[in-house]
Amino acid sequence: MRVSQPFSAAVMRKLLLAFSLVLSTFSFTLQAAEQPIALLGAMDAEIEKLLPEIDNKQVHTISSNTYYTGTIDGQPVVVARSGVGKVNAAITTYVLVNHFKVESIIFTGIAGAASPKLNVADVVISTALVQHDVDLTTFGAPKGQLSGYDDRYFYADKKLQALALEAANDEIGKSRVHAGIIATGDQFIADKTVVKMLQEEFDALAVEMEGAAVAQVTDMLNIPLVVIRTISDKADGSAHMVYSEAKQVTADNSVAITLNMLSRMKS
Ligand code: ADE
Repeated sequence: MRVSQPFSAAVMRKLLLAFSLVLSTFSFTLQAAEQPIALLGAMDAEIEKLLPEIDNKQVHTISSNTYYTGTIDGQPVVVARSGVGKVNAAITTYVLVNHFKVESIIFTGIAGAASPKLNVADVVISTALVQHDVDLTTFGAPKGQLSGYDDRYFYADKKLQALALEAANDEIGKSRVHAGIIATGDQFIADKTVVKMLQEEFDALAVEMEGAAVAQVTDMLNIPLVVIRTISDKADGSAHMVYSEAKQVTADNSVAITLNMLSRMKS
């Protein structure tokens, strides 16, 4: 006796195919929605005020660096402290992208002023970043340009840049917010003549020790980046003293802008 089948084999195959398509679309949407945003700073002082904001906080140690995962205001985040300097910044950025699969990176921190127009407590939002200590000029490359690159600047993501500017204007008022170039190198700059050179050579507004290293990695891995820096000193002869006094308050200012920006990123 022939048993009647509710569905033929061909119909079953089509149903299965449709079901697996729906499933894979659903899991892709879930994955995309769950990709965290990285909030990165170099020093404890630069991320300190972020830590109490994290709900369901989990602590991860990778290559002797600490990463905090959880949510801020319902949004998945990874907060990380890279340590000072370009190598630390590059390694941490790679871990954020490769291990934590972050969708974008907001760098929050402090910087020396490279332009005489800027004062302590002003804010610089990166339009582009350059490594001022890269020098292949002997081979005819412009100062700051790495071999294999046709530009010495790494550009900030336009959408993140616009959001960071809105957030900064909202937090501290337009007159103290600047969009421009940030120069990075493995030196704490505390010399008027050096800072003048950085401004003239690179058109830099601010100088720090991590941003362009993060930018080189995010450029390679196609991850959107913006850097938010509050000026902690004027990178001149008195820089180390002014820096020590202004460090925490200026670092907290960048955190306030970062949190304001994060709330604007909510879809
Ligand atoms: N970060 C804060 N101030 C700085 C300076 N003067 N040089 C380099 N990095 C800094």
